Amino acid sequence: MVNKDLIPKYWYNIIPDLPKPLPPPRDPPDAEFSRIELLKKILPREVLRQQFTIERFIKIPEEVRDRYAIIGRPTPLMRAKRLEEYLDTPAKIYFKFEGATPTGSHKINTAIPQAYFAAEEGISHVVTETGAGQWGTAVALAASMYDLSSTIFMVRVSYEQKPMRKTIMELYGGKVYASPTDLTEFGRKILKENPNHPGSLGIAMSEAIEFALNHNFRYLVGSVLDVVLLHQSVIGMEAIAQLDELGEEPDILIGCVGGGSNFGGFTYPFIGAKKGKKYIAVGAAEIPKFSTGKYEYDYPDTAGLLPLVKMITLGKDYVPPPIYAGGLRYHGVAPTLSLLIKEKIVEWREYKEEEIYEAAKIFMKTQGIVPAPESAHAIKAVIDEALKAKTEKERRVIVFNLSGHGLLDLGNYESIRRRVEK
Ligand SMILES: Cc1ncc(COP(=O)(O)O)c(C=O)c1O
Repeated sequence: MVNKDLIPKYWYNIIPDLPKPLPPPRDPPDAEFSRIELLKKILPREVLRQQFTIERFIKIPEEVRDRYAIIGRPTPLMRAKRLEEYLDTPAKIYFKFEGATPTGSHKINTAIPQAYFAAEEGISHVVTETGAGQWGTAVALAASMYDLSSTIFMVRVSYEQKPMRKTIMELYGGKVYASPTDLTEFGRKILKENPNHPGSLGIAMSEAIEFALNHNFRYLVGSVLDVVLLHQSVIGMEAIAQLDELGEEPDILIGCVGGGSNFGGFTYPFIGAKKGKKYIAVGAAEIPKFSTGKYEYDYPDTAGLLPLVKMITLGKDYVPPPIYAGGLRYHGVAPTLSLLIKEKIVEWREYKEEEIYEAAKIFMKTQGIVPAPESAHAIKAVIDEALKAKTEKERRVIVFNLSGHGLLDLGNYESIRRRVEK
């Protein structure tokens, strides 16, 4: 039985503790409509309120803590002893296993409160986009928990590569479409230009928002925005308590970055509590936002229905390479994380598909868990840091977030294997 007392009572918001004020979301100059005003029709009211709060701690509703218990929170903090031995490192390696939730990733941590707030407001139907399908699955489950209908716009390449994800979303009661669709004006425009468009997260996001607006449904947001990183802080809050119980002081904290939600959720409570010496955000070399992205105001979605936010970005129209299978395909980085990277509080790394594939295999050999390809990016950085600790003969404590399992991503591994092992 899960002990509910071990589930955090508060979410942590890093905004008041940032080294510099966070540039606020804003409307484009001379815009024909205000995106900030439009947010009131897009997001559930309480989600919008939390997006703009500057309070450091926000109470988690008891009803949400009950649901967190049902999905198995707190998630385990595990020691990767066999991996340490395999690498012959003096470092100690721990991981927070977010793959232990029923949907297989951390995404459910924000889907639950968002669905709860929507239901409380009398909303009957929620809409979202999904890339790999982890977020869509989380929304379909959270919606079904609160008897809401759900519609999910899934990036077309993933829809075709990942039929099993679609099946789960449908089993939870979601309705799934391959985006670009002809259900929205924006989708029709994209299809007119290119009927074989593979889709992107930015496009699917715009379609979901437009669809929600057209039907007076509400849109649930899966990453990037501050409110999502706030909800994800349960990961880091639990990890701090779990490490305290073991009497461990972390030196290095590592997580992978798509939009930045699992990374922020995991590391921000540590950063806020001044625990840890180094924080490493890991992205994909194939979607090189850290190395080549610009830090500027850009739209989170391709149609530009959401307000401009200041972030590291490859541009809202960015389309990832279609053969790449490692995840982390979103074009931008959450504004708080972008700021922390610019201020050099958080370091970044980028790894190639073949590197994360080898890291995933080492993790499977030693720890037995199939990691999500996204999480394998973090594992690669963990291995590098553990080997560095060996060269430098330092007994460092490395903690990483294993954001998801990869049992529904075997097609991705198959595709990488075919290319890497030729
Ligand atoms: C398992 C897993 N990890 C990480 C990510 C990246 O997203 P974020 O950076 O918001 O955590 C995703 C996105 O779909 C994911 O499914």
